[in-house]
Amino acid sequence: MPIPATKFIWFNGKLVPWEKATVHVLSHAIHYGSSVFEGVRAYQTPGGVAIFRLRDHTQRLFDSAKIYRIAMPFSPEQINDACRQVIAANALSRGAYLRPIVFRGYGEIGVTPRQDPPTDVAVAAWEWGKYLGHEEEAHGVDACVSSWSRMAPNTLPALAKAGGNYLSSQLIGAEARRLGFAEGIALATDGTLSEGSGENLFLVKDGVLLTPELAHSVLGGITRDTVIRLAHERGMEVKECALPREMLYLADEAFFTGTAVEITPIRSVDRLPVGQGKRGPITEALQNAFFGLFSGKTADKWGWLDHVDMAAPRSAASA
Ligand SMILES: Cc1ncc(COP(=O)(O)O)c(C=O)c1O
Repeated sequence: MPIPATKFIWFNGKLVPWEKATVHVLSHAIHYGSSVFEGVRAYQTPGGVAIFRLRDHTQRLFDSAKIYRIAMPFSPEQINDACRQVIAANALSRGAYLRPIVFRGYGEIGVTPRQDPPTDVAVAAWEWGKYLGHEEEAHGVDACVSSWSRMAPNTLPALAKAGGNYLSSQLIGAEARRLGFAEGIALATDGTLSEGSGENLFLVKDGVLLTPELAHSVLGGITRDTVIRLAHERGMEVKECALPREMLYLADEAFFTGTAVEITPIRSVDRLPVGQGKRGPITEALQNAFFGLFSGKTADKWGWLDHVDMAAPRSAASA
């Protein structure tokens, strides 16, 4: 299904009609993958629609741009404001997925032109339900280990959420789907576990939560961090460490985390059941804690919910 259009996209400082938010085919990013972006969710909460960990997503966007030395023509506060504006201007009161993107635009041709191409910045938002489905959230998905490895750490920086990195993700995800799996899990180039095509990976073994540490070519997921904090709060032991592939087969539970998949149990890997072959109790407890942030059952001690004033005038739209 194509992206359901909303009315406005924030583009270089202004709200423009959805269909007018276009770029030139000779833009640098289209040829060389030079974009950095975010995927952010806004949830309907008892206190109105709220963007989840907006400031953390914006910080990661700026971190990604810094790694690639992409000049940012807007401040973090302007980007945060743009996110709030696209929710309000499009009346997305039932929640939304937001896509802020920063990319090298139309200038000279060449991978490293003498003059840096201008930076274009856009923020779009639209209504988006479950990425892997309600069924999957309760019952889990079937995953496989990918024949593709993640990028080696000294090739493309995994901590940058950059467009080019998603060529690797496309290989991993497409192979898994071709083989009849919901998702692929990639190994790092040292053979240890890394992450899914667009998700971080957690295992549970003997009551301990395990996840590959950042040095294993993973994105520093904001949901990953949320789960670690919620787990600590509940007195669980969490280890960020190197994990061998076979731990997938021996784990009591496994799940993916990410803005898109939220917390999705993994019920089998390579056709071997994980634990009981269904969602485990720790996964379910963490899902409840996570979704409780949006229903109000879990206290938002961290100030993670950024409430959007839906009545804010659109005249505040332009930077
Ligand atoms: C490769 C990759 N890993 C992990 C994640 C999860 O990150 P987050 O929880 O911040 O969405 C994503 C999604 O953004 C991703 O694309």
